[in-house]
Amino acid sequence: MAIVDLVNAGEQQQQAAKRQEEDGEREYYCRRGVRNLCDSGISRLPGKYVLPASDRPGQAAAVGSVKLPVVDLSRLRIPSERAAVLRTLDAACREYGFFQVVNHGVDGELVTGMLDVARRFFALPFEVRKRYMSPDVRAPVRYGTSFNQVNDAVLCWRDFLKLACMPLAAVVPSWPDAPVDLREVASGYAEANQRLFMEIMQAALEALGVSGAAVLEDLAVGSQMMTVNCYPECPQPELTLGMPPHSDYGFLTLVLQDEVEGLQVMHAGDWLTVEPLPGSFVVNVGDHLEILSNGRYRSVLHRVRVNGRRPRVSVASFHSVAAERVVGPAAELVDEHNPRRYMDTDFATFLAYLASAAGNHKSFLHSRRLY
Ligand code: OGA
Ligand code: NI
Repeated sequence: MAIVDLVNAGEQQQQAAKRQEEDGEREYYCRRGVRNLCDSGISRLPGKYVLPASDRPGQAAAVGSVKLPVVDLSRLRIPSERAAVLRTLDAACREYGFFQVVNHGVDGELVTGMLDVARRFFALPFEVRKRYMSPDVRAPVRYGTSFNQVNDAVLCWRDFLKLACMPLAAVVPSWPDAPVDLREVASGYAEANQRLFMEIMQAALEALGVSGAAVLEDLAVGSQMMTVNCYPECPQPELTLGMPPHSDYGFLTLVLQDEVEGLQVMHAGDWLTVEPLPGSFVVNVGDHLEILSNGRYRSVLHRVRVNGRRPRVSVASFHSVAAERVVGPAAELVDEHNPRRYMDTDFATFLAYLASAAGNHKSFLHSRRLY
């Protein structure tokens, strides 16, 4: 064997050993999650969670805070005020891709009950939570950690419980049976979110001038996924993120955040912290609605920062059409002045994309762009 080959073989072996070590480390942390890591008492952030300097939360873009446009749903329900509220909603979806809804009619006890049961779930012994871990992204219940466990080079400071919500009666029996009231509270909450989503979606289609009967029918029997997020207090919050910059996949996401701030939205090149507004939901445009609106509404990058003092809990509800349905720009929004900007897309394309790439940033949406 030539000397060169020997050297190469040695290097390859070293690289393989390094990869194995990295995989072992990833597995070590992914099996435990960050809640568990914190509970074991750490004073420094493990290297697997340390972002490269350019991706750290204090870097690159300026940081400020923002009061998002507020959509008052009780006014949307008054015929003489509906047009004005639709204008607010339309402007918010074009400019920020985000807004907050108040007076939404979802029972306050259901909302506080959901946050409470979420906290109690993450406080369960790790042995109990661990039962719901699954590597299968299609599992109706999945407890896990980080953002995209398989692809993340650096892990994120987040644990989550993902619950498939459609059809509700069929999936609830597979949800965790601890805490004992989780199924009852979370299913009531999921149902209320789906109703609210349909009402906001109907308003969005009206504001876009799209005759949405067919889409609304598809959405009524579409898909709903709920993610319960836990971002524990972090020993070195300036070095990591709870969630990396990403956009959401579906039509709209409804986010319930507790009183601890952390969600940041990219706007005009700056990261803006969304000030928690008690009793409200944060609503954001997802990739599907950007495509349907032919780019008028924007599915905007957002991320989650963590802090050293207090754990944060949020519940995100993602709504879309069923997996086999195709989404494309609405006919009303395509003409000679506004050519079609996106290819039709479906869930299978998205899953194939996730398996092939890092799956973060806005790359999926970009991959559907025509120009
Ligand atoms: C998400 C998300 C924000 C938050 O789950 O996609 O952006 O505040 N969540 O947890
Ligand atoms: Ni998101």
